[in-house]
Amino acid sequence: MAAEIISGKEIAAQVRAELKDRVEELTAEGLVPGLATVIVGEDPASQLYVGMKGRAAKEAGIYSRQVTLPADASEDELLGTIEGLNADPRIHGILVQLPVPDHIEEGKVLLAIDPEKDVDGFHPINVGRLSTGDLNVLVPCTPKGCIEMLLRTGNDPAGKHAVVVGRSNIVGRPMASLLLRKAPGGNATVTIAHSRTADLGAVTRQADVLVVAIGRPDTITADMVKPGAAVIDVGINRIDDASRERGYRVVGDVDFEGVKEVAGAITPVPGGVGPMTIAMLLSNTVQAAENQRAASS
Ligand code: GUN
Repeated sequence: MAAEIISGKEIAAQVRAELKDRVEELTAEGLVPGLATVIVGEDPASQLYVGMKGRAAKEAGIYSRQVTLPADASEDELLGTIEGLNADPRIHGILVQLPVPDHIEEGKVLLAIDPEKDVDGFHPINVGRLSTGDLNVLVPCTPKGCIEMLLRTGNDPAGKHAVVVGRSNIVGRPMASLLLRKAPGGNATVTIAHSRTADLGAVTRQADVLVVAIGRPDTITADMVKPGAAVIDVGINRIDDASRERGYRVVGDVDFEGVKEVAGAITPVPGGVGPMTIAMLLSNTVQAAENQRAASS
């Protein structure tokens, strides 16, 4: 039987509608959640993402500010901008779009953001809080979105074997920590596989929940999936396609056509994990605003 197709687009719309209600309540109490996005340089893909984030924030009733620094801005200028946003009471969440240019040290940038405003969840303090099981920490948006999709489609990972393919700081590692947490969306038995895993299929075939974030098309084929498994495809890869006007199409890391005949549920690309990431950024911004209000009262 063909798999249920998990629509990230629909779930994200639902999450955003719920958030709008929460933002209205906060606003009525005099607290408008605020998000600042910072971008260095003019990379078109980064500008597109940051623009989308800003528009989504406004649509949810969140105050949004975009700071654009020139590509040759110094590290000190960027750190100064972050310091200003850390001190600004209208701003509850700060996101510096990555990657930053080579002359700026990414680690220093992540450390400069106030951990309470770190809506990306990339600050080492928040990484540590997540891996020690803190339940109120700000967590990276993409893995948080994957958990939300699993829960909202009846694919609770609790008690199941979850296999994460990929070990990046943005997706693979925090994903594994979330699946392991003693919390809704957690309580799974977790295995992390990666590009150096021997016999990847032997590992992925054990997965009841399979999350793939390795950045290579067709990494997971139908023979590597347990029948009935829930498959979350985090990959975003451009491949040449002369039949398309723009000359390429976007695919994930999973052979969608083959795997959907074996899996119980699967996310498409596009329209799966992607829309959830922005919804979770808004969710983190609201969470940060609520936490900061609680801390100051
Ligand atoms: N660049 C690609 N993905 C992300 C993300 O999730 N957050 C930030 N800040 N930059 C990114």
